[in-house]
Amino acid sequence: MPKAKISALGCYVPPRLLTNFDLEKMVDTSNEWILERTGIVERHIAAPDVATSDMAVEAARVALAQRGIEASDLDALLVCTVTPDMYFPSTACLVQHRLGAKKVWGFDLIAACSSFLYGMGVGAHLVMAGTHKKVLVIGADTMSRIIDYTDRSTCILFGDGAGAMLIEPSEDDNNGLIDFLYEIDGSGGDALKMPAGGSRMPPSHDTVEKKLHYVHQDGQAVFKYAVRKMYEACRELLARNNMSGKDIGCLICHQANRRIIQATADRLGMPPEKVIINIDRYGNTTSATLPLATRDAVTEGRLKKGDLVVYAAVGAGFTAGASLWRWAY
Ligand code: ACO
Repeated sequence: MPKAKISALGCYVPPRLLTNFDLEKMVDTSNEWILERTGIVERHIAAPDVATSDMAVEAARVALAQRGIEASDLDALLVCTVTPDMYFPSTACLVQHRLGAKKVWGFDLIAACSSFLYGMGVGAHLVMAGTHKKVLVIGADTMSRIIDYTDRSTCILFGDGAGAMLIEPSEDDNNGLIDFLYEIDGSGGDALKMPAGGSRMPPSHDTVEKKLHYVHQDGQAVFKYAVRKMYEACRELLARNNMSGKDIGCLICHQANRRIIQATADRLGMPPEKVIINIDRYGNTTSATLPLATRDAVTEGRLKKGDLVVYAAVGAGFTAGASLWRWAY
């Protein structure tokens, strides 16, 4: 099987900032509380006329330009999101049309905060199967559209953004995806969900009045699961590759809460300089956190060609997992 490497990366965040001080004026919260409990300082919020596909297209264009290829060179396009423009057509179809990606097939992938981690794995396997040469995996979410800005327990957490990674065959057998370990546990479904809008509870005046089209979360239940699972997934993945945290150059976790990332890093024995945390500037952008954190890691010179990098995520569902790559550019 050919190896699959990440060969380009593009990101987009909308310009408008929502700071902790702005939130102090909206709900009963404080900058100190948000900073101490989550690590977030500010997040980006999309303008009213901007939808998930718009941000996805921006991120995709950056990745294509970085690689110096056209959208028509792509074979497949995945959009990882929990906030599609609409149920159907898929956001992948909308993005395909806007980009002019004439040869692709594609689909949306929904796994909450693990969406992009799973998308990277699916994209890599399309390449490793030998059937695809250029797969664009996009993570994009407009979380501000499904957040209740009167609920202080959730509105402080999320931001909007998008990121795209191009996955291609690697000429060098050492580079690219080495291993992955993914797991879902539906017993945690009630802890984090958007209850209405689907076939179980279709939209009605009642569901809107009861605010059932927003994110509802039992924060502590999700926190406990995330702290345990993110570490366990990384530990097991590394152990079966005869590695430990000491062998890893860079840890890139889903950015939901700084305390979850730090607990994972501490238990893996990884020093802060190897752990990418940018939740302070973006909040939880759901499907966009991994590409945004990767961009910052590359820009800051903390992720370089040849480095071993572990990606890890936990999200609603529950969904969880980790993957191990050798960075290729
Ligand atoms: N400002 C001030 N006080 C607050 C706020 C706020 N924004 N939010 C909650 N509080 C209060 C609570 O009411 C509670 O008060 P009480 O003790 O008087 O009852 C107190 O602060 C503690 O509340 P907790 O919910 O216990 O706070 P916790 O330390 O657990 O932090 C948080 C909450 C940040 C949500 C945390 O639980 C968390 O990060 N959970 C995991 C989130 C996550 O990983 N999500 C998964 C990804 S999202 C996805 O998949 C789409």
